[in-house]
Amino acid sequence: MTRQHHGDIARFDEWSATYDRGPGKYFFARIHRPVVEAVCSGRVPPRRIVDLGCGTGRLLEGLLSRLTEAELTGVDPAEGMIAVARTRFAGEPRVRLEVATADHLPLADASVDVVTTTMSFHHWDHQDAALREVVRVLAPGGRLLLADVLGIGFFGRLLRSTGRGHGSGYRNAPEMTALLRDAGFSAWRRRRLSWPGIPIYLVEARRSTSP
Ligand SMILES: C[S@@+](CC[C@H](N)C(=O)[O-])C[C@H]1O[C@@H](n2cnc3c(N)ncnc32)[C@H](O)[C@@H]1O
Repeated sequence: MTRQHHGDIARFDEWSATYDRGPGKYFFARIHRPVVEAVCSGRVPPRRIVDLGCGTGRLLEGLLSRLTEAELTGVDPAEGMIAVARTRFAGEPRVRLEVATADHLPLADASVDVVTTTMSFHHWDHQDAALREVVRVLAPGGRLLLADVLGIGFFGRLLRSTGRGHGSGYRNAPEMTALLRDAGFSAWRRRRLSWPGIPIYLVEARRSTSP
């Protein structure tokens, strides 16, 4: 692990106590809504969902109320974030929470229908290894739904060039294609979420149906 990685996680640990109180929750809610819709959009509702970099569990909360049969797992390396999520879901048997990074998932092979992640991917130091982990844990035909800032368009290029110092940073389209292809996804598509100026995208990739 790099120093940067430790710095990022320590920062989120510190932030966890106040994370749900700041105005940022409105910002994140606008990103969570289309992700919840995308998870629920298939013909058959998914039963096993994992949220990577789940923070305090707000996306999981939205999924829990929509998918009444589903089992949800939240994964985050910041113990403070997971502690807040444990309080949020106390006594809820359908939610499991794990302290871990996305590149070392404490999950069995082919055990998940949908992997989500919101505003977390650019913080990951080992995006390549993490995406391989996502492919490993997804069942054949399973989906990845990744919402994050991408380094696309004028503002995206600006963000990349200022090199905001955390994780691997904001990926552009060719980099996303290479990362997803090398991890084992056969195709991906993206759509821009409605944030004026800020290049936030929802990326959807599917694991091939052959095991
Ligand atoms: C901006 S917060 C977003 C939290 C949540 N997904 C949301 O939408 O509110 C980013 C989260 O990513 C987590 N994170 C950082 N590095 C990570 C990694 N390598 N693997 C998984 N999560 C990571 C942080 O601890 C933090 O909780």
